[in-house]
Amino acid sequence: MVKYVVKKGDKYYPSDEMKKIAWIKSDSIYKEAKKNPIKFWDNLAKQGLYWEKLWDKTYEEKLPYFEWFKGGKLNASFNCLDRHINIRSMKDAVIFVPESTKEKTQKITYMDLYKKVNRFANVLKSLKVKKGDVVSIYLPLIPELIISMLACARIGAIHSVVFSAFSDEALKTRIKDGKSKVLITSDGYYRKGEKKDLLKKAKSGIKGTKIKKVVVVNRLNKKIKYNNKFVSFEKESKKVEQYCEPEIMNSNDTLFILYTSGTTGNPKGIMHDTGGYLTQAYWSTKWNFNLLEKDVIWCTADIGWITGHTYSCYGPLSLGGTLVLYEGGLDYPNPGRWWKIVDENKVTSFYTAPTAIRMFMRLGEKWVNKYKLDSLKVLGTVGEPIDSDAWNWYFNKIGKGRCPIIDTWWQTETGANMVNALPGVGPFIPGVAGRSFPGIKHEVVNEKGRKSKKGFLVQLSPFAPAMLQGIFRNKKRYRETYWKRFKGKYDTSDGAFYYDKDNIRITGRIDDVIKVAGHRLSTAEMENVLNGDKFVNESAVVGIPDKIRGEVPVAFVVLEKGKASKELEKSLIKLIRSKIGPIAGLNKIYFVEDLPKTRSGKIMRRILRNLLTKESLGGVSTLVNPGCVDVIKEQLV
Ligand code: WTA
Repeated sequence: MVKYVVKKGDKYYPSDEMKKIAWIKSDSIYKEAKKNPIKFWDNLAKQGLYWEKLWDKTYEEKLPYFEWFKGGKLNASFNCLDRHINIRSMKDAVIFVPESTKEKTQKITYMDLYKKVNRFANVLKSLKVKKGDVVSIYLPLIPELIISMLACARIGAIHSVVFSAFSDEALKTRIKDGKSKVLITSDGYYRKGEKKDLLKKAKSGIKGTKIKKVVVVNRLNKKIKYNNKFVSFEKESKKVEQYCEPEIMNSNDTLFILYTSGTTGNPKGIMHDTGGYLTQAYWSTKWNFNLLEKDVIWCTADIGWITGHTYSCYGPLSLGGTLVLYEGGLDYPNPGRWWKIVDENKVTSFYTAPTAIRMFMRLGEKWVNKYKLDSLKVLGTVGEPIDSDAWNWYFNKIGKGRCPIIDTWWQTETGANMVNALPGVGPFIPGVAGRSFPGIKHEVVNEKGRKSKKGFLVQLSPFAPAMLQGIFRNKKRYRETYWKRFKGKYDTSDGAFYYDKDNIRITGRIDDVIKVAGHRLSTAEMENVLNGDKFVNESAVVGIPDKIRGEVPVAFVVLEKGKASKELEKSLIKLIRSKIGPIAGLNKIYFVEDLPKTRSGKIMRRILRNLLTKESLGGVSTLVNPGCVDVIKEQLV
């Protein structure tokens, strides 16, 4: 088996074999990019994408806003489909693996995908969707999700994908904020052998919204009642013309909105443009995974999250690559399923989250050892800091000590990966993400915004092409969240330190966002749900470390009435799961008399968290009610 890495000291470097095939083989790219990042991205945008018209200005910055490729014109679906048709029409674009092993894997060629997207784009037009309209998509991991996204892009509509495991309430909030009139969903999907009903949640989610049409994919072969409002994805696609002219979009036209959790109860609609986003999706997929023409990439993230948008759709498809899309549970019908998929489809580039790796560690290596995994070339990780145990297990058991691990730091807001080590350059260090992607600048700063060995991770101007355009219909929140703390620098809300001169280690969020099994959740959103219950007066949710899931949420609740009991705890836990989704499963609720607060009334979640993790509490003198800390402490023993 080819060895792509060699060990030197405590670090790994690309081997000669990797250097032979690597797109980027040396440091010099970083130096070249640093000299003139704007020119660097200008060249990459021209080389990577097909533009109807080139831009008049490469970069313009009027903080907190900045624009790339101003005046440039292109279409994202054209870049992912039409331009591949002559040379790759019979190449697989999507390998769809249904959860049931009785159902066959579906290989969708570029030609097939092109046809399906064109037809569905015409369906959307027939439903009166126009350029600039927001279309909500609530679909499981099935090809129709990618088809819907590309069809929106084709006609210039803005897609807003909502994770299918989110609740009806979460869907409603996102539909309302986006003001969408059309929803694309399915009757359901398979998860761990069971049929999950999605349409029921969708029907409840659209109540009280402006949704006029619901397009339903028939995944479970259920009998669906169609009418004027509910129409069939399959039937409508047959009724329309087979070709749809792609809408020529400005580089700065919004391609999609994706809602993500912040520090308040309302999720933020992160907006991404067309040209800048696609440029970086293209190049980061190509370089991070060293994607060659015959390669197969599998990013296990759900497309309901940014990782799936960029690395299960726009990145691989704009490159003309082949991607794997797996519908189901990670251990269905047994914990060998993922590795079976890797072998059967000769996956070369595999991308997942530390939480999945920790889960497989627990399940035992016997499931992994049944498979060869010899097609693998590059492994990636994303979503949360990876500890060295998980890193080494991934490296040795999955990569068999042959493959580099690309630890990619980024966010919904950054659109594409920003900090990593490139496969042909290295070094690959357990637990250390690496350095800024060529052409991007980060710094670790202290509270005053000055460079420091340890502190806050910020991004510097010129801001990367794939960075967010703003928060949908909320300029104030955009400015305050990302641009207030450090003048002229983008605030990531992540802590970090320099591992050595070049490489950065990310320590995780420093705000009230938590990462549960790699999923981004807001503690404030969970508190809103709790506080809405008639028994609850106020609450504080904090994340505490968990061996498998990274972090898990626990709540401190002050009751308004009633008595603390196991039943009440259970019913509140159930309430959060139903209002947000099963990923927001609270681990425990502590019923307390009072919550530690500052004079201005801010609940000090940090103190509660530290009480649970037995870390030092820090200053309690600024609290208006310091006595409550001791009371809670006693309660926890
Ligand atoms: C965390 C996911 C450490 C980080 C792409 C960030 C990471 C948040 C890494 C964004 C990594 C992501 N190492 N932490 N390699 N990648 N994070 O928006 O805290 O779901 O701010 O985007 O995930 O989560 P989001």
